[in-house]
Amino acid sequence: MSQTRRTFAIISHPDAGKTTLTEKLLLQGGAIHLAGEVKARGQARRARSDWMKIEQQRGISVTSSVMTFEREGITFNLLDTPGHEDFSEDTYRTLTAVDSAIMVIDAAKGIEPQTRKLFEVCRLRSVPIITFINKVDREGRACFDLMDEVADKLALDVCPMSWPIGMGGQFQGILDLDSRKVSRPEGPSREFLGTVEEGVTLPDDVAEELELAEAGYPTFDIDAYRGGDLTPVFFGSALKNFGVSELIDAIARFAPPPRPQPSEAGTIEPDNAEVTGFIFKVQANMDPMHRDRIAFMRLVSGTFKRGMKLTPSGLGKPIAVHSPILFFAQDRELADSAEPGDIIGIPNHGTLRVGDTLSERNQVRFTGLPNFAPEILRRVALKDPTKTKQLRKALDDLSEEGVIQVFYPEIGSQWVVGVVGQLQLDVLISRLEAEYKVGATLEAAPFDTARWLKGTDKALSDFAEFNKMNLARDRDGDPVFMARSAWDVNYQQERNPDLTFCATKER
Ligand code: G4P
Repeated sequence: MSQTRRTFAIISHPDAGKTTLTEKLLLQGGAIHLAGEVKARGQARRARSDWMKIEQQRGISVTSSVMTFEREGITFNLLDTPGHEDFSEDTYRTLTAVDSAIMVIDAAKGIEPQTRKLFEVCRLRSVPIITFINKVDREGRACFDLMDEVADKLALDVCPMSWPIGMGGQFQGILDLDSRKVSRPEGPSREFLGTVEEGVTLPDDVAEELELAEAGYPTFDIDAYRGGDLTPVFFGSALKNFGVSELIDAIARFAPPPRPQPSEAGTIEPDNAEVTGFIFKVQANMDPMHRDRIAFMRLVSGTFKRGMKLTPSGLGKPIAVHSPILFFAQDRELADSAEPGDIIGIPNHGTLRVGDTLSERNQVRFTGLPNFAPEILRRVALKDPTKTKQLRKALDDLSEEGVIQVFYPEIGSQWVVGVVGQLQLDVLISRLEAEYKVGATLEAAPFDTARWLKGTDKALSDFAEFNKMNLARDRDGDPVFMARSAWDVNYQQERNPDLTFCATKER
């Protein structure tokens, strides 16, 4: 069964066209009926998620969601990642739950900073990537330029799968290199309405380009793609619906079905009969009056049935999953069963944490779900000093949810929060007030980054003797070095070869 699942995410820099492409993918998959429904800035969407003030104020989607659609016997699970410039660990962690990704690039801009950052996260786990060069209906950079940039900046082999016949005003259609068919724009808006021509004679300059491209780039090799060494490149226009169905076909044909997941006791295969999964995201529920949360579980093995009892690794005793949620487009549907690769939303009251393994027999512990070293650190100052206890509870809760990371310094009483994106700080302050009635402000911290320390007890205590000022504990009590700069990290690493300064922590 799991062979029919494709669980993937779209990675891109803001404005490259992720929302538009998502919308078109869902339309083609029949998951939504009208264009515009996914549009994050739309009024309907705002109404739906008005529980989160920041989303309203900024008109952006803070939280990721899951969209499922089917086409020709394949079930696609598209995990949305927040598309804003400020992004959080949610984004990173969502990428631990996918088997492949589509990288959307604006043909006029090429590789932009966030594309690159997200790509690096994919590379950590060798997540295979299909590249979609978007907006060819507009004037863009030369195809060779774009292909070479992907190859050079990301150190990947690139293989063209389609080629635009002209761009911008000259745009005449897209040639599929495998079938040699051309899809042409048609109609008043020049959207793709389904004309496909075979045996087309190409204009001389395009024919020449193609010859060069086909001779100059490697041919498609599915093993190299699945190993994360080669990216097939498609050209298209999300807006005009060009190259989108080719993209779906490529995911169906080439993208890997659910992959095995590393665990402490070896790799767990999807066809393993025991139901196992891991939590990659926890989201506060729509209703701020109730502390309900939805934990997002990626199913790794077994067939999940509603009402099943699973044991979360963090809890030790089983919970019955009576009302799991499957995400079908924007509507929630009660799930009766799910297969490896599927995502299940499990309502709970804070018992499930990001990184938890859930399983029937409670013997499996998945690894490889990292916390990332924060890039922004701030001290938390209380407006009302009597609220220390509430603040501690809130910080512990929110760090469990993955909204922030929290560090309790060994010396001094000012707690430090760490995030990878500025937006997380705004979410923190707003939720402290709304949900915990704690007024707080954030102050500059004398640290720039943090590293988890690994080493023998002796190495750790030797280090602590001279560096107590810069030591803290995270919410699990693990030691963390609070560094003034990246230089500081390198310096201490050189002086303390027995210790490892880790930029990620696996739970
Ligand atoms: P994002 O989610 O990656 O941030 O990008 P989004 O889809 O919102 O697209 C950003 C802008 O680029 C939008 O225009 C969108 O219409 C446009 N766009 C997306 N795909 C294509 C394409 O294939 N061709 C062209 N020409 N434009 C494309 P906007 O003006 O910012 O928003 P809107 O006023 O259209 O909503």
